[in-house]
Amino acid sequence: MGETTFERTRPEDYLTRLAASELGRSYKSLAISELGIEPGETVLDLGCGPGADLPAFADAVGARGVVIGLDNDPLAVRRARAGCGTGVEVRHADVQATGLPDRSVDRVHTDRVLQHVADPLRVLRETRRVLRTTGRAVFAEPDWDTLVVDHPDLEVPRAYRRFIVDRVVRSPCIARQLPGLAARAGMSVTRVVPVTTAFRDAEAADEVFGFRRVTERAVAARYLEQDTADRWLEHLATRPFFASVTLFLVVAEPGS
Ligand SMILES: C[S@@+](CC[C@H](N)C(=O)[O-])C[C@H]1O[C@@H](n2cnc3c(N)ncnc32)[C@H](O)[C@@H]1O
Repeated sequence: MGETTFERTRPEDYLTRLAASELGRSYKSLAISELGIEPGETVLDLGCGPGADLPAFADAVGARGVVIGLDNDPLAVRRARAGCGTGVEVRHADVQATGLPDRSVDRVHTDRVLQHVADPLRVLRETRRVLRTTGRAVFAEPDWDTLVVDHPDLEVPRAYRRFIVDRVVRSPCIARQLPGLAARAGMSVTRVVPVTTAFRDAEAADEVFGFRRVTERAVAARYLEQDTADRWLEHLATRPFFASVTLFLVVAEPGS
C-alpha cells in the first residue's frame, strides 16, 4: 500500500492550486452562478487573495463592467494585479472598511474570508453600505465544526476538529451565523446552498487541511497526545482515506 507524504509547510501557491482543483472549480462555479452577474455590472471580490475568481468575474461583466478585488495582503495584491487584465482593479485595503462609495456595487463576493476577519459583522455592514438596492452578495464560507475524518477511535478526529474550531480559525462556524449577522446588518439571507465535499485522496485533502502542521500544533496545545498524534498521522497516510467538510454559499440581499 502506498504511503502519503503530508506537507510540512504550506506551499506559497496553495490558494491558486486549491482554486484549480476539482473541489475549487465546482463550488466556485456555483458561487458565480448564485451571484447572477449581468454584463455591465460592478463586482466586488472582498479578500480576493491572488485573484483566483477575478478573471471569471471579468468575463461575466464584460467590457462595460467593472471588477474590484480587495485584499490586505500586499503579496496577494501584487499577484492578483499581475494575473488580471484590463477592467479589473485590485486594491490593497481592509474588507472591513473598503473606502468605496455608498451604493456603488452590484455584486459582492467572499470566498473563505469572513472566517478570518476580526469583525465579520462590520464586513456585512460594509457590504450593505456599498451594495445598490438591487444588489446581491454571495459569501462562500466553511463550517469547520462539520469536519469528519475516518479513524478507528472517534475521539481522535473529534479532538482534532475541536482544536481547529477552538484555536486555528478565528470564526470557524461563520457560515451558520450569517443569517443572524445579515439581519443585524440590514440584509436578508435569501438562499443557503451547502456544498459538502468528501475527500477520498489523502494528498488532495492535505492541501486543504495541512494534517501534519495542524496535528503538531494540536499536540503543542495538548489537544492530542504525541503517541496518539503519531498513530493518527500514520493511519491517515497509509489506510483508505475519508474526510469531509461542508462549505455554505450564503446568498444575501439588502433588506428593504
Ligand atoms: C483563504 S484566502 C481566500 C482568497 C480568495 N478569496 C480565494 O478564493 O482564493 C483569504 C483571503 O482573505 C484575505 N483577508 C483576510 N482578512 C482580511 C481583511 N481584514 N481585509 C482584507 N483581506 C483580508 C487574506 O489576505 C486572504 O488573501
